[in-house]
Amino acid sequence: MQTAPNSATANLPRPVTPLGIAVNHLEIAIALLAHAAIPSEAAHHLQKAFELMAGLDPYLEQTATPASSALADIAERTRHEPWQAKFDEGETVRPLEQEMLSGHIEGQTLKLFVHMIRARRILDIGMFTGYSALAMAEALPADGSLIACEVDPYAASFAQSLFQKSPHGSKIQVDLGPALETLNRLAAQGEPFDFVFIDADKQEYVQYYQTLMDSGLLSDQGYICVDNTLFQGQVYLPEAERSASASAIAQFNQVVAADPRVEQVILPLRDGLTLIRRV
Ligand SMILES: C[S@@+](CC[C@H](N)C(=O)[O-])C[C@H]1O[C@@H](n2cnc3c(N)ncnc32)[C@H](O)[C@@H]1O
Repeated sequence: MQTAPNSATANLPRPVTPLGIAVNHLEIAIALLAHAAIPSEAAHHLQKAFELMAGLDPYLEQTATPASSALADIAERTRHEPWQAKFDEGETVRPLEQEMLSGHIEGQTLKLFVHMIRARRILDIGMFTGYSALAMAEALPADGSLIACEVDPYAASFAQSLFQKSPHGSKIQVDLGPALETLNRLAAQGEPFDFVFIDADKQEYVQYYQTLMDSGLLSDQGYICVDNTLFQGQVYLPEAERSASASAIAQFNQVVAADPRVEQVILPLRDGLTLIRRV
């Protein structure tokens, strides 16, 4: 039996999607069974399953439109930032990690959604180092605008310094503070958004959604896109295997599914990307 390639290279993000985690399980199983006397047909099927799953993300990367140099720079710098040390030293107020970054395939998907609906006003809830914000800003017209919510001052200034390197960075306004406070303040201003991307505190997803839907923040033809709605597969695995965040996401998925004001689908892209439209 062939041994699976070793993915334990330094500084690579750990698997945080259902697909990545499944590939990791298969790698381990294949390595454990490498010298075991298992039927060759079983080994063949295991190897085929591994190849099908392990090859998918690299193929998506290879075939999607390449990211702009500014987006590639955000990804690269986020990967090399010592996030744990920054938190230990008190520079970040929250424990942040490189795995939070949405990345090329999700960024390119968001960019295409923004083009498809010709969005002019976008709200990015949970900016981190700015990948989703800049990807969407790249698809906005020159007079379009994006407000990005972030609670961590270190992440906010990290992103802002990188936005300055992009011709689209000037479309982005960063709002520092807890997202729910920002949403309530924006709602009072009464200017609705065409497109909202939710990617902040998983345990507040239901509140973000209800605020958007109830306060006039989402325009009548508006769309909401929500990240991590498969939460590493925990939302469909037995409840005993769910973290508090996964339980919150499972509840969020139920709330949206039961809301007659919208239609929605979870795209199995990365860690699950829900697309919601007001009907
Ligand atoms: C998963 S990351 C966002 C990733 C980003 N959208 C991207 O494309 O790379 C979540 C971010 O939300 C921020 N966050 C968490 N809770 C928040 C809150 N209550 N208000 C505002 N930002 C919050 C975190 O500090 C973190 O930077």
